[in-house]
Amino acid sequence: MPRRQKEPVTSLFSSVAGGSQPEVAEFSESAWIDVVRKMDEVYADLIRYEADLESKNHALEGAHRFISSVLSSMFDVLIVCDAQGRIQQANRAVTELVGSSEDALRGRLLHTLFIDDNHELLDTLLGRARNEVVKDVELTLAGRDGPAPVAVNCTPRRDRRERFIGMVLIGRPVGELRRAYDALNDAHLELKRTQQQLVHSEKLATVGRLVAGVAHELNNPISFVYSNVHTLRKYAERIRCYLAAVDVREADTELAELRRSLQLDRTLEDLDPLIAGTLEGAERVRDIVNDLRRYTASQRGDPVPVALATTLDSAAHWIQQGATRPVEIAVDVDAALLAWGHEGSLHQVMVNLMQNAIDAMEGVDRPLLWITAGRDGDLVWLRFSDNGGGIPPDDLTRIFDPFFTTKPIGKGTGLGLSISEAIVRDHGGSLTAANGDRGGAEFTVVLPRAPDATL
Ligand SMILES: Nc1ncnc2c1ncn2[C@@H]1O[C@H](COP(=O)(O)OP(=O)(O)OP(=O)(O)O)[C@@H](O)[C@H]1O
Ligand SMILES: [Mg+2]
Repeated sequence: MPRRQKEPVTSLFSSVAGGSQPEVAEFSESAWIDVVRKMDEVYADLIRYEADLESKNHALEGAHRFISSVLSSMFDVLIVCDAQGRIQQANRAVTELVGSSEDALRGRLLHTLFIDDNHELLDTLLGRARNEVVKDVELTLAGRDGPAPVAVNCTPRRDRRERFIGMVLIGRPVGELRRAYDALNDAHLELKRTQQQLVHSEKLATVGRLVAGVAHELNNPISFVYSNVHTLRKYAERIRCYLAAVDVREADTELAELRRSLQLDRTLEDLDPLIAGTLEGAERVRDIVNDLRRYTASQRGDPVPVALATTLDSAAHWIQQGATRPVEIAVDVDAALLAWGHEGSLHQVMVNLMQNAIDAMEGVDRPLLWITAGRDGDLVWLRFSDNGGGIPPDDLTRIFDPFFTTKPIGKGTGLGLSISEAIVRDHGGSLTAANGDRGGAEFTVVLPRAPDATL
C-alpha cells in the first residue's frame, strides 16, 4: 500500500490558520473541499486496507485450519514445549491418549504426561535435545486406558538468532506393534515348546525302543544268574555237609593240612555272604529291568473313571509308610472328582511325585506336601506343591529326560518323572513342572475328566 504524503494537509491547515477574514471565507471553502476530498481518499484507503487485511486474515485462518486438520489427523503424537519443558501445544493423538483437553495440558510440565519410571530418561532426552535431534527413544505415556508406549523423536526449536527456545516431540504409538510382537513371541515360544515336546517324545520313543530291547535281552541272563545262584546255595550246603562228615570220620593229617593250606574253612564261611551278595545284585538288576519294562509297557484296556481323592490317599499312605520321618501330606481334593484312566498307573504317577517331593524336602524343618485339584472344562488338574528347595531353572527342561537325576548313585535312577510323564501322556494329559511362589517345586498333572461321582 503506497504511503500518502502529509504535506498538502499540513499546508492546508497552516493557510487556514494564518489568513485574513475575507481570505478565510474564500480559502476555507476550498480548504474544506480539499479536506473532504482527502477524507474520501483516506476512507477509500481504509476500505482497501481492511479488504486487504481481511483477505490476509482469511488466508491465515485457512492455513491455521489446514495445520490443525493435519495435526489432528496425525496418528503420531505431537507435543511442542518451551525451553523449560512446559507444554505449549499437543495434538489430538496426545489428548485422546492421556484423556485431557489441549487447554488442560497447556503449561503443564512434559514429565507429567509420562509414567514415573520415565522421568529420569526424559531428563536425559531433554538435555540431549538442546543440541541435537534425538531419535527413537522409547517412552511410555501415562494413558487414560493404561500405559501407552511411544517411540519418540525429539527436535530442538530455535529462534532467529539460533537460541534454543524449546522442542518438538513426535512419538509413534507402538502399543499395537508391541502387542503384535508379544503375540508373535508367544506363538514362537509355544512353537518352541511344541518342538521340544516333539523332540522329547521322539527321544522317549527311541529310548523306549532301546530300553525294551535291552530289558528283553537282560531278562534271560538275569533269570538264569538268579536261579543258578539259588542252586549254588543248595550245592554249597551239600558240600559243607559232606566235609563236616569227612571231618568226623577221618583224622588224616595230610588232608587236614591241605584243608588248612587251601583255607577251606574261610572259603566255606565266605560262601554264604558271597551268594547272598550275588543274589541281592541279581535282584536289583531284575528290579531295574522290571522298571524299564514298565516304562515301555503301554496301557492295556479301556480307561475307567478313577476317583482321584481315594487314589491320592492310598498313594500318600503308601509313601508315609516308607518315609524315614513324618511328612505332612495335605490332600485337598473333592471326593467327587473323577478322571478317565487306569488306577494302577495313576497311582504310580502319584507315588513318584510324592516320593520326589519327600526327597526334595529332606533338609526342611516342617516338610509339607500340599495336593490340590480342580476342574477345567473337560479336564481335571492335580497340583503337587512342596516346600523343598525347588528345581534350578536350568534343570526344569531336563528333569523329564530319562535317567536325569541329581540324586546319589543307588538312590535314584532318574526314570520316575519320565515314566510318569509317559503314563500321563498315554492318558491324553500332561505333566508339567514349575517353581511355586514360595520357592518349592510345583508339579501339575492334567487328565481327561470323567463326570463327577454321586456321593
Ligand atoms: N519335588 C521336587 N523338588 C525338587 N527337585 C525335584 C522334584 N522332583 C523331581 N526333582 C528333580 O528331578 C530329578 C528327576 O526326578 P525323577 O523322579 O525322574 O528321578 P529321581 O527321583 O532322581 O530317581 P527315581 O525317581 O528314578 O528314583 C530329581 O533327581 C530331582 O533333581
Ligand atoms: Mg523320582
